[in-house]
Amino acid sequence: MKRKSFLLVSFVLFSLLISAQKPTADPIEKKINILINKMTLDEKVGQMFQIDPSAFFKSSSDVDEWIRKGKIGSVLNVIGAEKVNALQRIAVKESRLGIPLIVGRDVIHGYRTIMPIPLAMSSSWNPEMVAMAMHVSGKEASSDGIRWTFAPMIDISRDPRWGRVAEGPGEDPYLASAMAKAMVEGLQGEDLAASGSIAACAKHFVGYGAAEGGRDYNTSLIPETELRNIYLPSFKAAKDAGVATYMSSFNDINGIPASGNRHTLHDILRNEWGFNGFVVSDWGSIAEMINHGFCATSKDAAEKGINAGVDMEMSSSSYIENIKTLLDEKKISIQQINESVANILRIKFKLGLFDHPYTSVSTEKVLLTDDNLKIAKEMAIESAVLLKNDKQTLPLSKSLKIAVIGPLADAPHDQMGTWVFDGKKADSKTVLPAIIEKLGATQVVYAKGLSISRDKSVSGFVEAIEAARNADVCVLVVGEESILSGEAHSLAELHLQGKQNELIEAVAAVGKPVVMVVMAGRPLAIGNLIPKVDAILYAWHNGTMGGPAIADLLFGDAIPSGKLPITFPKGEGQIPIYYNHKSTGRPADIKNWTPLDKIPVEAVQHSLGNTSHYLDYGFEPLFPFGYGLSYTTFAYSNLKVSKNVIPMNGLVEVSVDITNTGKYEADEVAQLYIHDRFGSITRPVKELKGFKRVSLKPGETKSVSFTLTKTELAFWNNESKFQAESGDFDVWIGSNSVEGLKGSFAIK
Ligand code: NOJ
Repeated sequence: MKRKSFLLVSFVLFSLLISAQKPTADPIEKKINILINKMTLDEKVGQMFQIDPSAFFKSSSDVDEWIRKGKIGSVLNVIGAEKVNALQRIAVKESRLGIPLIVGRDVIHGYRTIMPIPLAMSSSWNPEMVAMAMHVSGKEASSDGIRWTFAPMIDISRDPRWGRVAEGPGEDPYLASAMAKAMVEGLQGEDLAASGSIAACAKHFVGYGAAEGGRDYNTSLIPETELRNIYLPSFKAAKDAGVATYMSSFNDINGIPASGNRHTLHDILRNEWGFNGFVVSDWGSIAEMINHGFCATSKDAAEKGINAGVDMEMSSSSYIENIKTLLDEKKISIQQINESVANILRIKFKLGLFDHPYTSVSTEKVLLTDDNLKIAKEMAIESAVLLKNDKQTLPLSKSLKIAVIGPLADAPHDQMGTWVFDGKKADSKTVLPAIIEKLGATQVVYAKGLSISRDKSVSGFVEAIEAARNADVCVLVVGEESILSGEAHSLAELHLQGKQNELIEAVAAVGKPVVMVVMAGRPLAIGNLIPKVDAILYAWHNGTMGGPAIADLLFGDAIPSGKLPITFPKGEGQIPIYYNHKSTGRPADIKNWTPLDKIPVEAVQHSLGNTSHYLDYGFEPLFPFGYGLSYTTFAYSNLKVSKNVIPMNGLVEVSVDITNTGKYEADEVAQLYIHDRFGSITRPVKELKGFKRVSLKPGETKSVSFTLTKTELAFWNNESKFQAESGDFDVWIGSNSVEGLKGSFAIK
């Protein structure tokens, strides 16, 4: 009898052990299983905890002690090979199991060599270039001990009031997916363990960019079809590119906070997509579920976070405080904890941290190398968007005398943009010295006009006007300081801050040609200024090499080729405004717009033949998605659609000839849009489904072709199925979202 019960107990224990260890042939999985079986619960919970030591502990000896006890799995914001190695040495040599830390940092668009902000990089429509830029960022960061960055930020946003629009890829899921893939590949390389590769983090999962009213941290209301068709594709693209981690976001989606959202984190990310890296919460976003009113206590928050699928808690301590009790109360299971720990260890193994935990302190220059700066400059060139160029004001002749005016003409800190922790303003090359370097000091006269973008004093105007009088052309560099966009920096109004409008008017009144260069983290409402200036170059916050890039563009040493990744509204009242909107029952059209001032006095109540638009703003944006000029011109001709009818899941090829009809060799970004005319749910009036950057010499013609398959033609329907539907499609290839040659085909 005794022997029988002994056997039974042994069998149960053995089965329990087996269930914790999934049998596997994969060497990493084997190592994970062995390790998990050795870990105490405290050590497991420790892996699920990430802190910024200086924010969490009063003394550094506490950090060491916690690491020694295996109570911390990851730190953020510790930089420098020596500092990182010191902590890593404690983890590896002094903790019981020697599990290395994973060290994270926000390297959003550059470490020391700052690239243009992500929204700007997206304006390049050049994924290869973006991958190179992100690889530089990863390489620089890893030389300082950082093996994990909280990038790419791939939140779709249709609201430029949202400060974080600067950090993301813009409004379109197709372009954002291309950027997500490029950024993940650039950061992670082919092998996470290779030198210079760092783990990426697709954030913020999900729906953060849909914050109501563009107010940061605000609620998002996203129907399932919109979630799948608009907000999820960039995250899926990151998964397909092998992204190591995801970050759950601050917002709630349809009433459920993203960090406690089992539907998005478990059902979609894990089950549908098969993601096997780990999910980290955003800073305190587990504990913030209490503020959301979704959790009553920190214990409740830990339970919801774990049950949703957040593996690691950043900064708040709900997990470390409550996991034991939650297990005792059976609110969560040890299998869930083992899985989270396995997800974290998997990435640590893939990064090679167990074999090479330390950062080599080398004398070889990695930061700000000539190559890195060259990539940063090229990235800034390709990111700039030419919005206006009357009478070919640009490029400027190098023999002209130039008045350089404006608060951002020599603003080394601000041109770097938001989310810059490690870039130094001393390394930034601004517009003023770059123009002086090109033309010589005698040809340049400088007046700031305003000390900063928010300056409300006009005391500098006299000098600015004088500078304009003494020059042939004025280059006005205006916009917003870097701190006006980014996290928690939403704006209700998008006009230029301070007295910048007045400065532009005062300078324009002198009568010299005016080139307005805008440095900003978001689309600004600059419609009132369009008639007042001759040319507009939208440079965004364009990083360390922003100045030389702008100088090259202004004087024709480089040709603008950027295209807008987000619609520019005429004013805030038009928001949300985006190109891939629905048609409505009364689609807006110019013939049926009775503008405000044309409404007859005492008109009787009627709909005036009006459609879905505003009486004051109409329905068109200031600048449409995909828009951007060049110094040359391009003609599109000969659109060919390979088949009139294709079967379900068939493919169709669409091609066009593009000719450079101007006098500069330049790049054009050809864009393909489709319109699925009828659907089981209403379809957007246009959807980007392909783009290609082509270089053309003057007079040269190249044919550009695209293949459309189920991937491009299907959409997520009301039953959460990704399906194409039979019916007619329009297709355009053109220079932006409102122009283009049109063809059609049908699925039958
Ligand atoms: C909060 C931000 O939302 C997130 O993007 C960032 O990565 C973390 N803080 C860490 O700094």
